[in-house]
Amino acid sequence: MQYAPPPEVLARLDEASVEEALRAFYVTRRESWLRPEETKKVTELAGILPVLARTRLDPLLVDAAAGRAPVGLIAARLLGWSRVVVIERDPGRAASARRAAARAPALGVEVREGDVADAEVWPTGAEVVVALHACGPAFDAVIDQASRRDAPWIVAVPCCYSDAIAFAAVARRWADHLGVASQAAVRRPFVESLIDTERTLRLEAAGYRVSVQAFVPPTVTPHNRAWKAHRVGPGRRAVEAKARWDRLIAGPPGV
Ligand SMILES: C[S@@+](CC[C@H](N)C(=O)[O-])C[C@H]1O[C@@H](n2cnc3c(N)ncnc32)[C@H](O)[C@@H]1O
Repeated sequence: MQYAPPPEVLARLDEASVEEALRAFYVTRRESWLRPEETKKVTELAGILPVLARTRLDPLLVDAAAGRAPVGLIAARLLGWSRVVVIERDPGRAASARRAAARAPALGVEVREGDVADAEVWPTGAEVVVALHACGPAFDAVIDQASRRDAPWIVAVPCCYSDAIAFAAVARRWADHLGVASQAAVRRPFVESLIDTERTLRLEAAGYRVSVQAFVPPTVTPHNRAWKAHRVGPGRRAVEAKARWDRLIAGPPGV
């Protein structure tokens, strides 16, 4: 079941409020400004926050592959979520997230430096897992760790696709098998769509109901689709998805 947040909560997720909150975390000197990448984040955050708001009331949130943790910090500030754990492997970004969190100690945002693929770094009892622009295999590690923990909600947005994604080699074999045109502009979206299919079926097979929706227009970012997965448990849909997933990951016949 989706949670229906009060209208006043949704009303404070506008871009002006997000920008003000970001400034409070990241701008430390008067007369200075948000970095260009943070300004760009304003629209993305204003798009993803309502998706998060409709999951649960004050869940334990894990912001995975968090960068400087704009999602976790703004969820704490504007949604009033009181249990936020941030996971980021880059020491510089994790330190920056920690400094930002320290500017609002009452929010209690905890920053953990580590790899999202490392089970040890995850807290127990994550209720909502968010990963905004989890690059390449980080997306896969996040959904695997979250589903292994039966996290009730996952909101994950992929960004770049690369050969480091485990399924990419199989996707390319499917493309070869089906005779997909070799022109990159044709072949790349085909392969990426197969990677997206594998991820979607993997979540469904693990007992999630999955929707994939644009959270901002593609003019804001080409990586504008959020996988919103709600755990519903085992059932016929999961069994069917598992059968399709097994066929897909096995690769084309005779290879
Ligand atoms: C494109 S940035 C997005 C950051 C943030 N979620 C945002 O939207 O601003 C991706 C971040 O994921 C981090 N990352 C990539 N792979 C990771 C992994 N395996 N474990 C933890 N963090 C990872 C990178 O260091 C980077 O900070």
